[in-house]
Amino acid sequence: MISRAENELLTQTGPGTPCGELLRRYWQPVALSEELKADGAPVAVTLLGEELVIFRDERSRVGVLDAHCCHRGTDLSYGRLEDGGLRCIYHGWLYDVNGKILEQPGEPNGGAHRDAYCQPSFPCREIGGIVLAYIGPGEPPLVPNYEFFHVPDDQRFVSKIHHSCNYLQSNEGNIDPVHLSFLHRNLELSETDKKRRVTGSESSPNSLFGADIAPRIDVELTDFGVRIFSIRNIEGDKIYFRTSNFIMPNFSTFPGQTAAEGYSVNWHVPIDEHSHWKFVIVFSRQRALERPLMLRGRDELQPDYHMIRTKANRYLQDRASMKDKSFSGIGYNFQAQDACVIEGAGAIQDRTKEHLVSSDKAIVAARKLLLKGIQDVKEGRDPLHVVRDLNANKFSHIAVISEVAPKAADIRAIVQEKIKEQSASG
Ligand code: FES
Ligand SMILES: [Fe+2]
Repeated sequence: MISRAENELLTQTGPGTPCGELLRRYWQPVALSEELKADGAPVAVTLLGEELVIFRDERSRVGVLDAHCCHRGTDLSYGRLEDGGLRCIYHGWLYDVNGKILEQPGEPNGGAHRDAYCQPSFPCREIGGIVLAYIGPGEPPLVPNYEFFHVPDDQRFVSKIHHSCNYLQSNEGNIDPVHLSFLHRNLELSETDKKRRVTGSESSPNSLFGADIAPRIDVELTDFGVRIFSIRNIEGDKIYFRTSNFIMPNFSTFPGQTAAEGYSVNWHVPIDEHSHWKFVIVFSRQRALERPLMLRGRDELQPDYHMIRTKANRYLQDRASMKDKSFSGIGYNFQAQDACVIEGAGAIQDRTKEHLVSSDKAIVAARKLLLKGIQDVKEGRDPLHVVRDLNANKFSHIAVISEVAPKAADIRAIVQEKIKEQSASG
């Protein structure tokens, strides 16, 4: 449980709020590259309560501008993509990707003073199928060199999902390994489960989540956030152990479909206090992903990346299937199951009423880091994991592990071994 004031501090992210100031110190995903088609429309995005327009110009450059035209404020996302930029449909002013006014066609001589001001714009980078923007103050930090940005395109899959609740609920759901044994457990193995094997065993992750529903959780602090260990006792003298990570300030990495070969990322980007986008990234270090398999997750999405299962249709929960198919009755898609429980806590969870237990360790650790980050920003310091040093811009130590090992194994040594391997190959 935290106080009402702390809950507000961690969940309010609009301009001028302390947590909003923290989140603005990092590059944030704002769109998928696939949304910015050469002949497509500009994309209207709200990020941390600020309305933006994102577009790709004729030279394939991406621009992120304030959504409201600097002439008389209308919404530029209705604009025309032409003549090397984005043209407002109200009076035809034309902007380039940096917000420079190229034309004021309704003015004498095309606007003699048009260089005196410009449309507010924000630094952006298109990398690994995602557009990142920096809307904070000062010099933007380096874009972190995460492994998933740098594998060949066919070894990575990206998507996004709209959620109707505060970002922190998703953030905290992802760093809670116990819910895998409940919310995400299939009572009957799905076709996908039948094909999946955990390294070092003949079992699927789903079977092992069921083998021990009360894993031991441990956490350690790192230079990027929190490393989370979960250990389940399984048959004989074996354990199933996993590591996942909370990466400051709003994403997590965990073993997903690519398990030992890579990992999955859920990046929780506030739209406003009551909604967020979850950017999803799956990658393999070793091989091309099976695209039809990856696209199956999109079966749960509408074309605008909103979920088909919503609170309004009670997430299409199938009570009959809860007897022998799945614990939750919400199909086999983790993201749909997560949507039900995170949105189920309300637009903003009232954390003054929660009762944290020993398995919520990672959530406690992550909140402490966020509060510390808020304090750092307040006192003029860069918060944790704002990267400015080129030599420190390497993240092969974001170890994500899912494997079966002997009970006597030294888990921390296995993690260090894995990090060494990844650093050597990266
Ligand atoms: S409001 Fe955009 S050009 Fe006038
Ligand atoms: Fe989940």
